[in-house]
Amino acid sequence: MTNSCHRQIRVDTERDMNEFDEKYVAPALLRWTHGRGAVAASALDASSEADTSVPWYLTLAPVEDGPTRERLGRLVELARGGMSWKEALEKTHADLLSYVTDRRRAAFMDLLPLSPQSDILEIGPGLGQFTAALAQRSRHVHALEVVPEQAEFALIRARQEGARNVSVAIGGDDCRLPYRDAAFDGIVLNLVFEWCGSRIESESHAQAQTRLLQEMARVLRPGGFLYLTTKNRFALRLLLGGTDEHMSNIRFGSALPRALGAWLLKRTGRSRPMGMLYSHDSLLAQLRRVGLVDVSSFWAVPEMRVPTHYVPSDAASVRAARARPDLRQGEGRKVSLLMRLVPAPWVRHVMPGLAFVAFKDRSAAPSGAKP
Ligand SMILES: C[S@@+](CC[C@H](N)C(=O)[O-])C[C@H]1O[C@@H](n2cnc3c(N)ncnc32)[C@H](O)[C@@H]1O
Repeated sequence: MTNSCHRQIRVDTERDMNEFDEKYVAPALLRWTHGRGAVAASALDASSEADTSVPWYLTLAPVEDGPTRERLGRLVELARGGMSWKEALEKTHADLLSYVTDRRRAAFMDLLPLSPQSDILEIGPGLGQFTAALAQRSRHVHALEVVPEQAEFALIRARQEGARNVSVAIGGDDCRLPYRDAAFDGIVLNLVFEWCGSRIESESHAQAQTRLLQEMARVLRPGGFLYLTTKNRFALRLLLGGTDEHMSNIRFGSALPRALGAWLLKRTGRSRPMGMLYSHDSLLAQLRRVGLVDVSSFWAVPEMRVPTHYVPSDAASVRAARARPDLRQGEGRKVSLLMRLVPAPWVRHVMPGLAFVAFKDRSAAPSGAKP
């Protein structure tokens, strides 16, 4: 089902657009308020504390099942009703609490050239685990989240955490970004790339992911940065026969040759994987193809979800890091033992996650990616 009405509804009252609204390709024509769906509205007032409605740019119907949306809806209701975001999470998502509150997970921000002058786009903020922390180090954070209730919760949480310089929009399902060319100094895409094309069944994951990369290059200012972390297709854990949620928990999962993986997946009743992973060198080449330069890659140790260190993935830095006695080289016992035996130049090919910092070429035309 396509929600095509959102671009056609007219705004009755022309209010002055504040500078943050100007980042959108079109004024915020619709607002989402939980339980009432999308409603027509005038420009979003991003600085109002009370205003936690968010503009809607989805093109497809949400895919979350009833119980998931119900649980998220309850979360939003509690937080909207005045409960602290943390207490609300404890009540509805106690299983996720430590993951979405663990401050160590924000360590990647030290890799980034954030400044009080930066306008940052965070794609896929989830339950707002990084949004307020990013906002503390930036001028303004725009977050784009595909799950409406998560988007609304992320904004409520950011406001409760004292961040007034945050705007949130619902969108991204078509891997397009509802923002103007060259609008941002930096983009954060943490553990989203693997999932981002999952909602579009009419095209391959790779096509949708390529579009998102092009879109990110388009909305970055020349010299702006992209931080992208995703899972590694050839993570040692998978090469050793581990399972992979993207591939219906088939052993070796995404590490299988694509054709064999597709054949095995069909036997489980699925026509396509839930997301797509890439090797280090393949993703590096994709970043360069959209006009990103000065790409650095990092080994998030012991694992990219809750890292303790970011080690540049070149051989010399890996050797130096391995000299540290406190470096745990992998998550489970088997993987961390075997990872020690992997020659330093190979580590980047089998590390659990791929973490890249890349920059848009300063000489690029501000309007976007190279073909
Ligand atoms: C695995 S979670 C990661 C959340 C957070 N970035 C983190 O690292 O903790 C992936 C998030 O991306 C969102 N997402 C997935 N595809 C998206 C898309 N195409 N556009 C925007 N958000 C997306 C999901 O709804 C979810 O909130």
